Amino acid sequence: MEREAAQKRIAELSETIDRYNYEYYMNDNSMISDYDFDQLLNELIALEKEYPEYSLPSSPTRRVGGEVNKTFRQVAHRYPMLSLSNTYSIEEIIDFDTRTRKLLNNKPFSYTCELKYDGVAVGLSYKNGIMVQAVTRGNGKEGDDITDNVRTIRTIPLKLKGNYPDDFEVRGEIIYPYEAFNEFNAIREENGEEPFANPRNAASGSLKLQDSKEVAKRKLDFCFYFLMGDNLPSDTQYNRLMMAKEWGFKIADSTRKCNNIDEIQAYINHWDNHRKELPYAIDGIVIKVNEVELWDELGMTAKSPRWAIAYKFKAERVSTYLSSIDFQVGRTGIITPVANLEPVWLGGTTVRRATLNNADFIKNMDIRIGDHVFVEKGGEIIPKIVGVDIEKRPLNAVPLEYITTCPVCGTPLVRNEGEAGHYCPNEDGCTPQQIGKLEHFVSRKAMNIDTIGSERLTMLFEKGLVRTPADLYVLSREQLIGLESAGENKKKTSIQEKGADNIIAALELSKQVPFERVLYALGIRYVGEVGAKKLARYFKNIDALSQSNIMELAMVEDIGEKTAISIFEFFNDIKHLEMIVRLRNAGLQMEAKEEQLSNALAGLSFVVSGVFNNFSRDGIKQHIEQHGGKVVSSISSKTSYVIAGEKMGPEKLKKAEKLNIPIIDEDTYINMCEK
Ligand code: IVH
Repeated sequence: MEREAAQKRIAELSETIDRYNYEYYMNDNSMISDYDFDQLLNELIALEKEYPEYSLPSSPTRRVGGEVNKTFRQVAHRYPMLSLSNTYSIEEIIDFDTRTRKLLNNKPFSYTCELKYDGVAVGLSYKNGIMVQAVTRGNGKEGDDITDNVRTIRTIPLKLKGNYPDDFEVRGEIIYPYEAFNEFNAIREENGEEPFANPRNAASGSLKLQDSKEVAKRKLDFCFYFLMGDNLPSDTQYNRLMMAKEWGFKIADSTRKCNNIDEIQAYINHWDNHRKELPYAIDGIVIKVNEVELWDELGMTAKSPRWAIAYKFKAERVSTYLSSIDFQVGRTGIITPVANLEPVWLGGTTVRRATLNNADFIKNMDIRIGDHVFVEKGGEIIPKIVGVDIEKRPLNAVPLEYITTCPVCGTPLVRNEGEAGHYCPNEDGCTPQQIGKLEHFVSRKAMNIDTIGSERLTMLFEKGLVRTPADLYVLSREQLIGLESAGENKKKTSIQEKGADNIIAALELSKQVPFERVLYALGIRYVGEVGAKKLARYFKNIDALSQSNIMELAMVEDIGEKTAISIFEFFNDIKHLEMIVRLRNAGLQMEAKEEQLSNALAGLSFVVSGVFNNFSRDGIKQHIEQHGGKVVSSISSKTSYVIAGEKMGPEKLKKAEKLNIPIIDEDTYINMCEK
């Protein structure tokens, strides 16, 4: 095809596909079969590939994704992303109204009442009708550039219609509608992955995916609520919403103009009662002064505008029957009691189970089998039991006797002084602990061996092929081929040649995983990701770490006494040492590699003192080493510089002055590194 013809056809196809998309996603109107639609889209994809110079940022092909963002660029917001002051009480809404009327000297004005969508806030920039950038809220001043991912959301227009301003920004909330969210979570569970606790977390996680093609599959949606820019048309928030509808945005028809507090209250009551019928989550109502010209007059408090307020609904609560209690054994042997509940619909999902935390929780609430319990779901939290409906308690319900032996291996349980949880000490003979440790070892933040999930690990464990992480590295391709495992849905699958190759390759790749993550993967009790990082930085290698004593361990930032004892005990166990030898022989990283950024500080030694703005104390030390400098703990005549933060110790100051060692501040230090 000739270039000109191609350009014309690209424009034609884009317009047609845009129209079909709009009708389908905004008006629920299917004007063309899926097959024909895909034909058009594929034609456009092919043409854009051949003539990339005509591929526009607003092209409907961007909806399919494909761009990969390894990291998200931080960008400054043109207008800060503010938050609203919140309240749970109608009295405070009345106060808000009284205050506003007073500030406006009884001038007449109206309100808009909108739903408070429970999702992820974004700012979308439009230039000449084209969506050019999408940024998360971040810290309000700057956020992450998630443009590629946001382009895949069908209800966000990439190209506007009608009479729009040439440069402005829209604010709104990216949400995960219940139906799509539940579908997505069900698939995750089927695949043995942890389901998301609520639609908001799932939306937020989706927007941070590196591969926009994956985001495109998630069926996210967008709720518009605000327009920003200089010289915007229209005089009221309500009219602005209606105008945005003309430009192609989806505007909820729940928005209302209200003239007084009674109308606001009626709106709140209505949605408190009917919010369950909405296809997506809301967590309250937003009330805004409708007349835009009054916004400046009302001004701002430190964080939020005085012309708007959010009324938050109380957490939803239901009562349901508690039929039995399971006791789960975690990878560290910790016992978690879990209530089995009669399935109940709560906040858009069905709740079947809820954690009972520990023995004290059950005792303090006097929870008994056969009780009706109140279950609540707040914004971010997974369902929790908040009380017992005593009136419904059956006469024969007896206080719960907490278990004294492990429900799996029968070992008497232990409860350490000062700790709420019981645990099973049989770490080498209790199956869920052994499998749990293996699961932890391969998990994403640890060794990230994603070709071996829970089912395969269970199977390898049950067949006796893998008992400890070190066994993974002697698995052969031949041993793996043909092994069968049963999934959650009890469907049997067996490992094929390709699958075996993938497992061996992932194991091989894991040998590059840095020491700090290997350390985390070992699953030492109380050593999380951050602790492992600090330990790796401090001790540099496994030998130094394994030979350290409790005192020394407790000196590491973020490592408390309890953790120090746990680490010490871990390395005093001969079988752990044997496992480490095997892992080292297999080729795993047992030494921290310093990432060398420059040699700007070569030959210089530094003492740091005080609190810094850009670094933590450990952070600045690491930074010095990464630029070739040396960190020493006390000042001597050989010290090149003392870097002084705020609240530098007076002793150090005196000594530096006495020895004539130059004292520099943080900024001077940063400049030095940049040179
Ligand atoms: S207006 C300057 N309207 O709730 C006012 N916000 O703290 C800008 N939200 O950050 C916000 N629904 O993420 C507004 N209809 C709505 C909203 C809404 C949800 C979120 C938004 C904001 C937070 C308020």
